[in-house]
Amino acid sequence: KHMADEECDYLFKTVLIGDSAVGKSNLLSRFAKDEFHLDTKPTIGVEFAYRNTKLGDKIIKAQIWDTAGQERYVQINFSSFLSFLHLHILLETTINNIFETDSYRFRAITNSYYRGALGAMLVYDITRNETFENVRKWLQELREFGDPDMVIVLVGNKSDLVDLREVEVEDGQKLAEVEKLCFLETSAKENLNVEDAFLQMITKIY
Ligand code: GTP
Ligand code: MG
Repeated sequence: KHMADEECDYLFKTVLIGDSAVGKSNLLSRFAKDEFHLDTKPTIGVEFAYRNTKLGDKIIKAQIWDTAGQERYVQINFSSFLSFLHLHILLETTINNIFETDSYRFRAITNSYYRGALGAMLVYDITRNETFENVRKWLQELREFGDPDMVIVLVGNKSDLVDLREVEVEDGQKLAEVEKLCFLETSAKENLNVEDAFLQMITKIY
C-alpha cells in the first residue's frame, strides 16, 4: 500500500477535487508553501506539490495532485476540438464518433488522476450553494474511479467570507455524517484549519 522513498518513510499520493474556483489550488499552496493569492487563474492540466510531515518517528511525504474543477471536461473537449475537427474532415467520421473519443479521453485522464491515490480532499465553497450540491457528483466520480478504501475529507472553504455564506456548517456536517467522511471548514486566505484538514487526511491514511 505504501511506497518507500529515500528521504521519507512513506509516500502518499492524494488528490484535490471539487468545482472550479472553490479554492483547491490555494489550499494546496497554503499547505505546501504557506502562500495565498487573491487573483489565481483556473488550473490548467494537472499540477502537484509535496510536503513532508512528521507523525511519531516517521516522516510522511504527501504528494498532492491538483487539477481544474468543472472546466476539466470543457478543457479536454476544447483541446481536442481542432484536432478532431481535422480528423473529422479527413475521415468523414460522424459527430457521434467525435463525442465518443472525447469521453474516452476524459476517462483516461480521470483514471490516471485517481490511480494510486490514498486520500482525496473534496472541496466546496461555503459562499456558493451549487458547489455544495455538486459534492454528490464528485462522490460519484470518486466511487467510479477511486480506490474504495480512499480516505475522503470534505472541506467547506472560504469560511472567512461570513457575510456571503450560503452553506451552513450543519449542512456540511450532516452530509459528511451520511457519507461517512471527515469534515472541516477552512479558509486558505486566513489560514484557518488548512493544516488540520491535510493532517487529518494524512493521519487517517497512515
Ligand atoms: P480551479 O483550478 O479552476 O478548479 O479553481 P480552484 O478550486 O483551484 O480555486 P483557486 O484556488 O484558484 O481559488 C479561486 C478564487 O478563490 C481565487 O480568487 C482565490 O483567491 C479565492 N480563494 C481561495 N480560497 C479562499 C479563501 O479561503 N477565502 C477567500 N476569501 N477567497 C479564497
Ligand atoms: Mg486550481
